[in-house]
Amino acid sequence: MTFSYTSKYDSSTMRGHDANERPWNLTNEVISNSQKGSSLLDIGCGTAFKLIPLATHFSEITGVDISEDMISSANNLINKSAVKNIKIIHADSNLLPFLDNSFDTVTCMLSRWDAKEIARVIKPNGNVIIEHIGCEDKLAFKTLFGKDENGWRGQFINYSPVEYIQSYYDLLNPLFESVKIKEGYWETYYTEKGILELLKFTPTIRNFNEVIDYNYFKMACDLFKSQENGIALTQNRILIHAKNLRIL
Ligand SMILES: C[S@@+](CC[C@H](N)C(=O)[O-])C[C@H]1O[C@@H](n2cnc3c(N)ncnc32)[C@H](O)[C@@H]1O
Repeated sequence: MTFSYTSKYDSSTMRGHDANERPWNLTNEVISNSQKGSSLLDIGCGTAFKLIPLATHFSEITGVDISEDMISSANNLINKSAVKNIKIIHADSNLLPFLDNSFDTVTCMLSRWDAKEIARVIKPNGNVIIEHIGCEDKLAFKTLFGKDENGWRGQFINYSPVEYIQSYYDLLNPLFESVKIKEGYWETYYTEKGILELLKFTPTIRNFNEVIDYNYFKMACDLFKSQENGIALTQNRILIHAKNLRIL
């Protein structure tokens, strides 16, 4: 079953607040790996709030998303800002509506992407930067929701970290000349309401149902509740950087 996001995803309650510094700053990663004045494609841009801080670095930014609801939120946010060089297009990451060799940098932040499509639309010498959920993200919490007929209900629990990282090297190495992947972990504090939103509006637990899963939910929240700061969960992301050294 494919999962559809709506702009409800973009709530500060659901994002929680970080207890310690993240292992990387994604805005800085994108800026330091791309030329000022070049072009950027962001796949699965959501509400585009991560693109606004990049607008002065790039000459033009194109965001694509499959969700009409996300696109309308993105356009609202862009219209409210002073930024003039971001355009948002409705598209599926599997079939990007762009000519070959169109963009200097391609990013994808926590969305779906197709490696062959990225390799097609990126210019020679272009940079790919992808932040993706790691397989150990909120692992201990997700494990408490058990298994269904398809295995663990928690997203990506079936992978070991080594297999997971290797699967991305295997996917990207044939298409790009230089692929580097780093892993990062940090703690985030959530409220019970924030966790509930996270489970309802993201694919974290397959077929999460607020009523049927209520007991698991309460047990999981109680187990990870810290004294003052709410529910503390370990986040895990991977950061992929690849360079397209293909000659035209
Ligand atoms: C978790 S949200 C991330 C949004 C944004 N990149 C961010 O980091 O805040 C995932 C986004 O990817 C979009 N998405 C999911 N599948 C997609 C696809 N096949 N093609 C384009 N966008 C997709 C969703 O609609 C959603 O906006």
